[in-house]
Amino acid sequence: MEEIVVGLGERKYPIRIGCECARELGGQVRAALPRCDRLMVVTNPDIARLYAEPVLESLRATGLAVDLFEIPEGESSKCIAVLETIWDRLIRSGFTRQSALVALGGGVVGDVAGFAAATYMRGIDVVQVPTTLLAMVDSSVGGKTAVNHPLAKNIVGAFWQPRLVFMDIAFLRTLPVEEFRSGFAEVIKHGVIRDAEYFRFLEEDLDRIFALDGDTLGRVVRVSCEIKASVVEEDERESGLRAILNCGHTLGHAIEALGGYGEGSRHGEAVAVGMLAEARVAERLGLIDAESVARIQHLLERSGLPVRCPAFPVAEIVDRLKSDKKVRDGRVTFVLPSGIGWVATRNDVPRDLIAEILIEMGANSS
Ligand code: NAD
Ligand code: GLY
Repeated sequence: MEEIVVGLGERKYPIRIGCECARELGGQVRAALPRCDRLMVVTNPDIARLYAEPVLESLRATGLAVDLFEIPEGESSKCIAVLETIWDRLIRSGFTRQSALVALGGGVVGDVAGFAAATYMRGIDVVQVPTTLLAMVDSSVGGKTAVNHPLAKNIVGAFWQPRLVFMDIAFLRTLPVEEFRSGFAEVIKHGVIRDAEYFRFLEEDLDRIFALDGDTLGRVVRVSCEIKASVVEEDERESGLRAILNCGHTLGHAIEALGGYGEGSRHGEAVAVGMLAEARVAERLGLIDAESVARIQHLLERSGLPVRCPAFPVAEIVDRLKSDKKVRDGRVTFVLPSGIGWVATRNDVPRDLIAEILIEMGANSS
């Protein structure tokens, strides 16, 4: 298995990436958590049906007691009520400070189980075992955990780094292609913000990636994790550099919110539209050339990601920007591509320019 270390001093941890390696999980958890007395795997019923058996078998082979706890599938599980069911089970079953959680699933399971670990007994260990592309390249790395509030997404949470991130890319073989695509928007983002060579590799090897060729997909997951790890190492708590990961997300979040989170469009689809809209804004501000914007659009299109904005009223999209977590002193922060592999942070983007671009891309002008 390949290893990337997220170098965060005493909170440093390895990301291990392999293919058909699920049976190695137990040994690696044991090595990462030598004092652990007991584990609880948190997952959802769909993922449990597919992967609980090999995962539990590998973990139990270490001699540790391992419980399985299922939360309902879907974004609606990222709420305090579901978190309470996890706390409840941990208390009733007598989990201790030496116990640990294993988050087996996509970003939803990872975020809820991560926050449960961050809060139970003021913090117990968590191992992230991502099963979606989005979770492998983004949410399982970096320690952001959260639940949603009826008024805002991901608004209640904690930075809580895992002790190990274990990835078996063979898990992606059962992932619906729309989910794969949604995660791939974040992969494209990594190329756009940080690595022109990676972006070119994605352009050249796209067919092999979508055919789930093991070596090619392994490189995607590895390079994206290296990019995310390097950003998190420099700025764990998003006081500066980490914000570059928000490229495409300022407009993307506004579109996603109007679509009703997961009901209208998937996160990655909204990020794709947001990334292209932000690239076009950057072009109009003279930050990026037309050819680079065309390459971003072409790669999104070839990946089956949307490049048209849903026909939401443009004023509603622009108004939504005000409730973004990235607003400072009433100004919306945009992370705009300034070439492939580079970004510029701007908080002076005229509202009219944003509206104009969104209308060109399909938003409703009325
Ligand atoms: P998800 O967790 O809802 O998973 C998508 C779907 O795929 C679910 O139905 C799930 O049951 C299914 N699934 C998962 N693995 C599977 C597999 N191997 N085979 C078949 N089906 C499988 O969605 P997601 O896109 O992974 O995560 C989205 C969440 O991640 C959002 O809540 C978002 O806020 C969060 N997120 C967090 C961070 C972070 O840094 N913590 C970053 C980005 C996104
Ligand atoms: N997904 C953005 C971050 O982890 O910072």
